[in-house]
Amino acid sequence: MSDNTTLSIAVLSGKGGVGKSNLALNISFALNLKGARVLLIDCDFGLANLDVLLGITPPKTIQNILDSNLKPADVLVPVNTSAGRSFDLLPASSGVAGSFDEQRKAPALLTKKISALARRYDYVILDVGAGISPTVLNFASMALMRVLVITPEPTSLTDSYALVKVLSAGRGIRDYLVLVNQIENAKQETQAFKRLSAACTHFLNISPVFLGGIPDDNNMQEAVRRQTPLLREFPESKSVKHIFAVAEKLNKLRASMLARIAALDPLTPVPK
Ligand SMILES: Nc1ncnc2c1ncn2[C@@H]1O[C@H](COP(=O)(O)OP(=O)(O)O)[C@@H](O)[C@H]1O
Ligand SMILES: [Mg+2]
Repeated sequence: MSDNTTLSIAVLSGKGGVGKSNLALNISFALNLKGARVLLIDCDFGLANLDVLLGITPPKTIQNILDSNLKPADVLVPVNTSAGRSFDLLPASSGVAGSFDEQRKAPALLTKKISALARRYDYVILDVGAGISPTVLNFASMALMRVLVITPEPTSLTDSYALVKVLSAGRGIRDYLVLVNQIENAKQETQAFKRLSAACTHFLNISPVFLGGIPDDNNMQEAVRRQTPLLREFPESKSVKHIFAVAEKLNKLRASMLARIAALDPLTPVPK
C-alpha cells in the first residue's frame, strides 16, 4: 500500500454509524494541522460519505480510477485545514454497486493504481465500510495499521469482536488499535475497551491496544448537518482535544515505525 515512510491506517468497525467517517475525517484534519501530509480515501464504495461530510460534489471519483485509466492525481480533492495547508481526499461514488466479484477485487486494483501516489504522503487513511464483507476484509488486510472504532453499545462491541475474529482467523491479523467513540464519561470508555479486550484475549488470544476515547459531542452532529468538519466549524468543542490526542499518538507510532526501519537499513548513516 505504501513505501517505508508512509503509514497506512484502515479505520474499521463491525457496526455502522459508530463514527468512522467523522473520526477518519477529523483525525486527517488534525494530522494535517500538525504538519503531516495526509491522503484520506473513501473506501466505502457505493455508499460514499466523506464528500457529503465536506459538502462537496467531486467531479471524479475512485470509480473513474477503477473503470478507466484516469490518473489518481486527477481525482484528488484538496481539503483546506488552515491558511495554505490542506490534505487530499480521494472521494468515492454513491449508489454505484459493481458485481460481487468487482467489489471483492476493488481493494487490490485500487492499491495497484495508487501505490505511486500514496508514497508522497506521511499517512494514508482508509475510511472503510462497516461489516465483514470481502471488500472490508481486503482493505483491512492491506493497511499497515488498523483502528477499530467502537461505542459503548453492546451491539457495537459484539460486531467489533466478530470483525476481529474473522480478520484473525481468515487473514492472521492480530494487531488492533481501539478508539472508543461517543463516551459520556471515563468509566464508560474503560468499560467498553475492557469488554472488547477481555473477549479478544479470552477467545482469540489477541490483545488490542487502547488508542483513545472521544466524548459524545452534540457539535459533531451539528458539524455533520452543516457539512463541514468539526475541527473547522467548532475548534473549541469538547471532543477536539481528544481528536488531537489521537493524532499525537499516531505521530508517535509513526515516528517509532520510522526509527525501527532506519535501524534495519544498512545504508542509513550511523550518528558518530
Ligand atoms: N463523538 C460523537 N458525538 C456525537 N455524535 C457522533 C459522534 N461521532 C459520530 N456521531 C454521530 O454518528 C453519526 C454517524 O457517524 P459516521 O461517522 O457517519 O459513522 P460511520 O462512518 O461509522 O457509519 C454522525 O452523523 C454523527 O451524528
Ligand atoms: Mg462511514
